[in-house]
Amino acid sequence: MKSALLVFASLVCSVNGRLGLDAILPITTPMFECLKNSSYEFYVARVFRSNGLIDNTGIANIINARLAGLDADAYLFPCFSASCGNGTDQVTKSVNAIRSAGAQIDTLWLDIERFAWSNDTASNRAFIKDMIVAADELGVAAGIYTYPPFWAQIVGDWIGGSHLPLWWLYWDHLENMDAFVPFGGWTAPTIKQISGDVAGTCGVSNIDKNYML
Ligand SMILES: *[C@@H]1O[C@H](CO)[C@@H](O)[C@H](O)[C@H]1NC(C)=O
Ligand SMILES: *[C@@H]1O[C@H](CO)[C@@H](O)[C@H](O)[C@H]1NC(C)=O
Ligand SMILES: *[C@@H]1O[C@H](CO)[C@@H](O)[C@H](O)[C@H]1NC(C)=O
Repeated sequence: MKSALLVFASLVCSVNGRLGLDAILPITTPMFECLKNSSYEFYVARVFRSNGLIDNTGIANIINARLAGLDADAYLFPCFSASCGNGTDQVTKSVNAIRSAGAQIDTLWLDIERFAWSNDTASNRAFIKDMIVAADELGVAAGIYTYPPFWAQIVGDWIGGSHLPLWWLYWDHLENMDAFVPFGGWTAPTIKQISGDVAGTCGVSNIDKNYML
């Protein structure tokens, strides 16, 4: 009876989704192994910073996460200084840096959150569209990280990202998608960031916790 219950519990667990993290501090392979032991199955690294620099720590983390057997993605936090180039340039720089380091990602997430965006939704849409086209031309799967108040302020009622997976920010700490309300053309999220800046485990002091089905 006990073992039947355990089997049932592990089945429920596996159909109930996967836990992941994003964090910007350096994480070694043993730390990722420990995280994997603590049920984390995927990691998302920052590879491009809002100051226009490539995040080499993030790229090293991707490699270490893979070595520990986690899945790995990357995100790009856009830069709006003139010296940073347009959306195409920023995606190209990110993908080139990932590839030349020999790092492997499944998806490049475009971080669309309140920041130094212009107040002109049309130019913001054009910037995002350029990033999407650039990723596509480079053969990289792209996704969008955002949540409704950010999205509405930055691009208005645009649905031009809805063919891509959504990484939805909603810090309710719950490992489910129940609170999701469609927006931006998305009818369901792919990943949900369920909490931010929480105490981590395994020597990783500050993590955002993520959940995916
Ligand atoms: C992970 O768990 C396995 C089995 O419980 C254990 O042998 C191993 O030492 C653990 N590794 C880490 C890095 O915690
Ligand atoms: C982005 O800027 C580059 C120059 O860095 C230029 O070649 C390219 O045409 C621009 N792309 C778009 C979509 O404006
Ligand atoms: C957008 O508008 C707000 C308020 O009108 C202003 O404070 C801000 O500087 C503007 N942002 C940009 C990038 O122009």
